[in-house]
Amino acid sequence: MRQILSKRSFVLTVFSFALARVSYCSVENVRVVYPNIPAIAKYFGTKGRYEEVNPYLLDDILAVNKTFMKPPSLECKPIYLTAIIRHGTRYPTTKNIKNIQRVYDLVSREATNGEKWLHDIKTEWKMWYTEDMDGQIVEKGRDDHRHLAVRLATLLPSLISEENLRSNRIKFITSSKHRCVDSTIAFKEGLMNLWNVKDVDFSHEVNDMLMRFFDQCRRFVEDVENNKTALKEVDLFKSSAEMKRVQIKMANRLQLPYSQVTQGLVEAAFYLCSYEFSIKSVNSPWCNLFDETDAKVLEYANDLKQYWKRGYGHDINRKSSCTLFHDVFRRLNRAAHEIRFGHVTEAVTVQVGHAETLLPLLSLMGFFKDETPLTAHNYASQQNRTFRSSHIVPYAANLVFVLYDCEDGLRLQFLLNERPLTFPNTSHLAPLYETIREQYKDLLEGCNFEKECEVPRASCSKCSEL
Ligand SMILES: *[C@@H]1O[C@H](CO)[C@@H](O)[C@H](O)[C@H]1NC(C)=O
Ligand SMILES: *[C@@H]1O[C@H](CO)[C@@H](O)[C@H](O)[C@H]1NC(C)=O
Ligand SMILES: *[C@@H]1O[C@H](CO)[C@@H](O)[C@H](O)[C@H]1NC(C)=O
Ligand SMILES: *[C@@H]1O[C@H](CO)[C@@H](O)[C@H](O)[C@H]1NC(C)=O
Repeated sequence: MRQILSKRSFVLTVFSFALARVSYCSVENVRVVYPNIPAIAKYFGTKGRYEEVNPYLLDDILAVNKTFMKPPSLECKPIYLTAIIRHGTRYPTTKNIKNIQRVYDLVSREATNGEKWLHDIKTEWKMWYTEDMDGQIVEKGRDDHRHLAVRLATLLPSLISEENLRSNRIKFITSSKHRCVDSTIAFKEGLMNLWNVKDVDFSHEVNDMLMRFFDQCRRFVEDVENNKTALKEVDLFKSSAEMKRVQIKMANRLQLPYSQVTQGLVEAAFYLCSYEFSIKSVNSPWCNLFDETDAKVLEYANDLKQYWKRGYGHDINRKSSCTLFHDVFRRLNRAAHEIRFGHVTEAVTVQVGHAETLLPLLSLMGFFKDETPLTAHNYASQQNRTFRSSHIVPYAANLVFVLYDCEDGLRLQFLLNERPLTFPNTSHLAPLYETIREQYKDLLEGCNFEKECEVPRASCSKCSEL
């Protein structure tokens, strides 16, 4: 891990240095640094900023890395694309805002030390979050989607094109949550501004069966969501030595008794640093409560929760996404069929949902599966885990499937956050579509949502509500 990190920061330094030479070539040894980025920003998990996974966007938010994104071969023609996208940056939920208020009250009233950052918290920082903000999109979140729309259009201009938008060959589907609907609207705005399209309304379909399948799966709700023991690894980790150390360090930094700095407040302060950064792009004084060692532990706590609630931890987490999985392949099949007659009716599908939409689907398809499950006891040996929500599902995270018509058949490319990813058990970056269908044969022929999500009668406690 150390090696990877230091190699990466070396590359970034060299890259920044090269930029600096371009911008200020008369000044010797000037280095562009990003002082507004907290050192712990890459550990924010599902509350991470998208730019942290693609840092080149910090220099140009509309930049597209074409070397990443080559078609399988030159004569291949993209014929269909579907993008499943998480909503953009949002406010904390009411529950988190209440916890932020509590940690603010405690620190502003009782903490003492000689540090400038604490002085800044007490005198300059204002508690500006209000409970009515409850998880709504922020302006940065709209921008996340406006910019992503432009980058995807730059990447695949023959599919995400003005002509396809105007002829309604780009279909928009969204979860009913405000932040998702607002993200969908922002995505459309991005395209309309790009092509200067005015006075036209492009509709979107609200579909929670597809984008919030987890709420609709009774078995998931009963066995995992409402089941206190389903997340026992998460609870065990909360009382682990690693978490205790983070708590003690935070109490020491604030010179507060350890008993006053509860796990809940530690989490709230960490979120506060992440929200200040993702919403306002500032390195807030709150970020001084943690160092990188602490942040890695808190990142793991977040990953454990995602793993047991949305990922491989319980089989039903993955299976609850069967409907979305089938829907993706139904659209791919339709395009594959139509291209034989020369015309694909739906060229692009843009589907906006949640981290909770993306993680189960990725897990169902076998991505980011570590050899050993994530548990409360193997934090140290999971340092190099692939299941890392900071990398997989920051705000505006996106899965893109691109179907290409090539000389030797149809090929499928898969991108996560604008980088190509190989399907499990293949090494080709754009395998034949038939190969992928063969690999997922069992899921394509099975994975029945009704069957997987039904609850056996005997344990069906609230059947009348159906
Ligand atoms: C683009 O991707 C290529 C290939 O992975 C990489 O070598 C290059 O550094 C990337 N460019 C930027 C600006 O990140
Ligand atoms: C709750 O989760 C535990 C642990 O996964 C499992 O053994 C148990 O069957 C679940 N209970 C219900 C009611 O689903
Ligand atoms: C990949 O191969 C392994 C081992 O053969 C198998 O267990 C796994 O299910 C395969 N994954 C997919 C997505 O086919
Ligand atoms: C993680 O990867 C690094 C670099 O490859 C390696 O040095 C380290 O031993 C690995 N750590 C674990 C716990 O596997």
